[in-house]
Amino acid sequence: MTIDTDALKANFAVVAGHGPDEVAQHFYSYLFLRYPETRDMFPPSMTKQRDRLVGALVRIVTNVDNVGELVPYLEDLGRDHRKFGTLAAHYPAVGEALLTTLRHFSGDAWTEKLQADWAAAYGIVADTMSGAAQKVDAAEPAWWDADVTEVDLRTFDIAVLKVRTETPHPYVAGQSLSVEPTTLRPREWRLYTPANAPGGLEIELHVRLIDGGPVSTALVRRASPGDRLRLGPPVGRMVLDPASTRPLLLVAGSTGLAPLKAIVDQLARDGGRPTHLFFGARSVREIYDRKDLDLLAERHPWLTVVIAISDDIRWKGPRGPVGTVVAEAGDWSGHDVLVCGSPAMVKFTVATLVASGVPENRISFEDFGDS
Ligand SMILES: Cc1cc2nc3c(=O)[nH]c(=O)nc-3n(C[C@H](O)[C@H](O)[C@H](O)COP(=O)(O)OP(=O)(O)OC[C@H]3O[C@@H](n4cnc5c(N)ncnc54)[C@H](O)[C@@H]3O)c2cc1C
Ligand code: HEM
Repeated sequence: MTIDTDALKANFAVVAGHGPDEVAQHFYSYLFLRYPETRDMFPPSMTKQRDRLVGALVRIVTNVDNVGELVPYLEDLGRDHRKFGTLAAHYPAVGEALLTTLRHFSGDAWTEKLQADWAAAYGIVADTMSGAAQKVDAAEPAWWDADVTEVDLRTFDIAVLKVRTETPHPYVAGQSLSVEPTTLRPREWRLYTPANAPGGLEIELHVRLIDGGPVSTALVRRASPGDRLRLGPPVGRMVLDPASTRPLLLVAGSTGLAPLKAIVDQLARDGGRPTHLFFGARSVREIYDRKDLDLLAERHPWLTVVIAISDDIRWKGPRGPVGTVVAEAGDWSGHDVLVCGSPAMVKFTVATLVASGVPENRISFEDFGDS
């Protein structure tokens, strides 16, 4: 049977026309009423704007024609869902809530073909996720417990936290992991990126406060030593290519520094490799990790650190968006490039580097937009 994904997208556009909040509310009311055992997996307060599942669910399911490309992501997502307590038996429940919601808002536009296509598309995605979750080594925990040991407020909106796990977390330098501030915001999970290489029990996190954002506010404003966290499994593919010996170009925007600092830490443990690290921020005040950047450059002869500031006349060093400063600073076409920051910074930097002659397949990136 061929799934008509265009028809699914068109159908969801009609459904979403009733208002995304109404659609999410219907979905959750159905799910929690019919399957009350799922309620405790979700945040205590499910205000409309905070829905994280329905929109993402539909986006993924309606792109099932690219399932080949989606498989690694879906496998990560399925393994990651173990931290919510999601079991294989919950997938049909969510599928039923989704289809009931779509049918409710489609009215006369609902057809048997749509019903069959949504069910088939959802089934493929759900099977990939739950199959991956079932294959996880039984010894691997669904989450890692951790304590906050230090909170260092570096600017009014950026804090560097040290957290300590009970057993080592199996991330690779450059990967991220989701964090639930168990004592401060139970069942709210957001992705953060370790700024040190793995192996020990201590993890450094760089958190920027997003106005009105519950988890970043809790971590920056309210966290203190002793607060409990849960950490989800590692996600993300912006990691070092183990087969490459090329020099490295690392480009960070603000807290996008975290994974690149972890990579420098990993390189140092592995003996070093010629590396340029560019850190970009808008103002001098935002150079929140200056002491460590200076220390790294001093300690490692293979590392060059450049700070670019875009909007602050007090800065006497390179001025401009970090993507422009990097592209003007040299020929990077023989480098492996890693870029991390806000969606806008990453998009601009990657486009500028490609235009300057860096092969696209040598650039790997992560952005801190909505997961
Ligand atoms: C792979 C990955 C790694 C990440 N690593 C880090 C990290 O190391 N450090 C870090 O500080 N953040 C990181 N983030 C962002 C983090 O996961 C949260 O999204 C962020 O902290 C906001 O969470 P919140 O609960 O406070 O707000 P949310 O409830 O998630 O968001 C509140 C509102 O702000 C918007 N928003 C979210 N993030 C931003 C942003 N960056 N700029 C502008 N608007 C935004 C949302 O769309 C929403 O409308 C990462 C994100 C991803 C996808
Ligand atoms: C095909 C099936 C599914 C897909 C594609 C899917 C996808 C997603 C995605 C993309 C997110 C957002 C992740 C993030 O913000 O980091 C999410 C969140 C979540 N999912 Fe799923 N999911 C599926 C099935 C399920 C099932 C069966 C359950 C269990 C009942 C579940 C429980 C949750 C919970 C609790 C959240 C967090 C919600 C929140 O924070 O508000 N999901 N899911």
